[in-house]
Amino acid sequence: MQIKKPQLKIGEKTKIKANINGEEKEIVLLYLGGDKYIAFDAYCPHLGCDLEKYGVLIREEIVCQCHFSHFSIKDGKPTKGASKKPLKIYQVKVGKNELIIEG
Ligand code: FES
Repeated sequence: MQIKKPQLKIGEKTKIKANINGEEKEIVLLYLGGDKYIAFDAYCPHLGCDLEKYGVLIREEIVCQCHFSHFSIKDGKPTKGASKKPLKIYQVKVGKNELIIEG
């Protein structure tokens, strides 16, 4: 799905609603600067903490600060901590004024 490029500072994140393959999703979009964004499910697969508030990027991982689950930003696999389930990561394609988010 396509959205207008949000105005974000480097390191800032925002929650968006997106229709991915016919399913309504809440997704956190994190801006890394330049043309780089990371998009992932807004709720932690462990016990559902809101990752817009409690998710932080540490090196190559999203860390949920509720119980310190770590997820790889490449494929969402849990690498450390409480969650045994992966975090869904979305592909972000960057256009001039828009982003395309794919499941
Ligand atoms: S809810 Fe995220 S680690 Fe427990």
